[in-house]
Formats: sequence, structure tokens, C-alpha cells
Amino acid sequence: MSVVILISGRGSNMQALLEAGVPVSAVLSNRAGARGLEIAARYGVSTAVVEHPAYASREAFDAALGDAVERFAPRLVVLAGFMRVLTAGFVARFDGRLLNIHPSLLPAFPGLHTHERALEAGVKVHGCTVHFVTADLDHGPIVIQAAVPVLPGDDADVLGARVLAQEHVVYPRAVRWFLDGRLDIADGRVRVKGNDAQLVLGSHA
Ligand code: GRF
Repeated sequence: MSVVILISGRGSNMQALLEAGVPVSAVLSNRAGARGLEIAARYGVSTAVVEHPAYASREAFDAALGDAVERFAPRLVVLAGFMRVLTAGFVARFDGRLLNIHPSLLPAFPGLHTHERALEAGVKVHGCTVHFVTADLDHGPIVIQAAVPVLPGDDADVLGARVLAQEHVVYPRAVRWFLDGRLDIADGRVRVKGNDAQLVLGSHA
């Protein structure tokens, strides 16, 4: 039933999952200084660090990370601000049970600096996406999205905070659906059994 969460930094999505009562057996980080590790420890969750510079190649790091994850025999692996691109081998190892949250309405703005790029493009709607991870970066089947307005005067920090508030809403929901066995993937599309809404419209706050 349990979940392993992978982080690299702040850990606010991880905290939202813990707050929501998601059964988390461990939090793993590729950086020893990740702030989220302290938060996880406060919640009494096991933590471990697998530092990528200690490995000669991406493949070697991913193999060690995968072994560390499997020690907890999770049903689901959740990326929450995990800032390493995973190899196809790692993705295949956890195929169908690896989720990520991305701070844009995919397929718009894959990759980094999504809020800056959204502002630059002049979009009026921005948001976040929870998706299954595939070997194609930021392109897997979409579980749920939250949309927020882009308002006059926004900078990347203000817009990012508006998006982050919605990340904390949709990620626990997506993880709960997965654990309850409610997600079906067919032809690259995700359907939620019971037809819960897969789109959240965020406020102007
Ligand atoms: C979030 O914006 C998430 O969408 C992205 O990285 C950020 C992580 O933030 N993948 P946090 O560590 O969960 O606070």
C-alpha cells in the first residue's frame, strides 16, 4: 500500500502528501541538504540519501536509486521536485507506478523555468500537471491538471506561488486515486473510475 517519495529540495509537495495522510514509507533524496528531508523526519518517515555525484554514470546512479526505492517495496513511486532526469531503465523498472508533478499545463512548457516562460509567452492560463512518467521527459499520460489565471503584474514568484497552491491540491488527489486502484490508462490517456474531475480551476488568489 505504501509510497516512496523522491525529492531534491524544499519538499512542499511531499509535505502536502504527508498532510493528506498518504501512507509514505520513505522519502529519498539525491541531495543530502534537501530541506524536505528534515520535514519528512519530523513526520516520522524514514529518509535516505543517494547522492548522484558518487556515481560514475546516470545508469549507475539510477540502478542504486532503484535498489534503494525497492528496499521499501512501494506500490507507487512519487517524484516531488526530484531534479534529476531519470534513465529509460529506471522508468521501465517502475513502469505504470511512477508519478510526477510538473509546474505547467503540459504539453506546454516541459522542462525548467516554466513560470518565466509562461509569462514570456503571454499565456492567460497556466497551471500544473500530474502525469505518469515515461522515458519521454514531461510527456507521460496526464492524471489531473489544475489551471490558474495569469494576472496583470504577475512575476514568476507570484505566479509560481499561485500554481504551487494548486499542486498541493491535485497531487494528493492523484496519489489517492492510484492507491485506490481507480486509474486506468488506455491509449496514453488516463481515466478515473467513478468519473471524478481531472481538472481543477484554481482561484485568483
Ligand atoms: C514543484 O513546483 C514541482 O512542480 C516541480 O518542482 C517543484 C518542487 O517543489 N517538479 P517542492 O519541493 O515540492 O516544494
